[in-house]
Amino acid sequence: MSSEMYMLYGGILLPRETHSSESLEFAQGFSFKDDDVLLVTYPKSGTVWMQEILPLVLNGGDLTSILTIPNWDRVPWLQGKRFAVIVDQLTSPRALVTHFPYNFMPPSLHTSKAKVIYVMRNPKDVMVSSYYFHQMAAFVEDPGTFDEFMDKFLEGRVLFGKWTDHLKSWKQSKLGDRIMYITYEEMFKDLPEGLRNISDFLGRNLSEETIQKITEHCSFNSMKANNMSNFSLLPKTLMDFDKSPFLRKGVAGDWKKHFSSEQLARFTSVIRKELEGESFSLPWSL
Ligand code: A3P
Repeated sequence: MSSEMYMLYGGILLPRETHSSESLEFAQGFSFKDDDVLLVTYPKSGTVWMQEILPLVLNGGDLTSILTIPNWDRVPWLQGKRFAVIVDQLTSPRALVTHFPYNFMPPSLHTSKAKVIYVMRNPKDVMVSSYYFHQMAAFVEDPGTFDEFMDKFLEGRVLFGKWTDHLKSWKQSKLGDRIMYITYEEMFKDLPEGLRNISDFLGRNLSEETIQKITEHCSFNSMKANNMSNFSLLPKTLMDFDKSPFLRKGVAGDWKKHFSSEQLARFTSVIRKELEGESFSLPWSL
């Protein structure tokens, strides 16, 4: 691991490009408002997709923000370096995002009535997506071979730690009905239904026409064409699309084209073992 690229914070690896001790401290003292919405994901689970969806659901389908504000400022990163700069410019209801486990949340999340949306994705597709991301993003380590990267992923030697620890932390949260769990796969299968569920959870009453409008603008192809969402505003020295686009395939089940039967058995056995005895079950078969 290159210590130049990563920092260790509370036992998890973070990219220095996007985090600093000051930004982490600022987040710990941050005050959530009751009408804030916090999007939580393990990396590569559909974060950017929800950074498109949430503003549209919250503002009733007005496209202005997704067409004029880059996703990182539209739904800013709670612990990120830009958060202190951008947060005061947001109008309520605010949507914020984090990749951190539950136990890293500032105290105000617990005392406020802010709502949380946790998006989960089949870990096999998460790993595949992450493998390509590590090839194209200059501020993360080279992944090595797919097989080597699988070991790193399963052992948690990756950004934001183990996938299973992340999931367990948020599944065991004490947020009650303030947290909603949704999967990438549900949204992929039936985005309008996913949007209806999100909208109900957030107390929005969106018309079918608005749901259709949001569906259209949050499709993989629309997002790929939106410069505010496809990361084309970043220099090639940070993200190299010749190696892999950020919006890469946008499907469920791409792992089938990448995993050998041995890798599948190894992956499944580690994840099953780590989740043994948990009171929740996974929404996909491993
Ligand atoms: P793939 O690499 O499998 O294509 P994150 O935003 O958490 O980093 O996740 C990125 C993954 O979400 C990428 O997966 C990306 O293509 C996918 N994604 C982003 N927007 C999407 C959309 N509108 N529809 C389907 N997948 C989307």
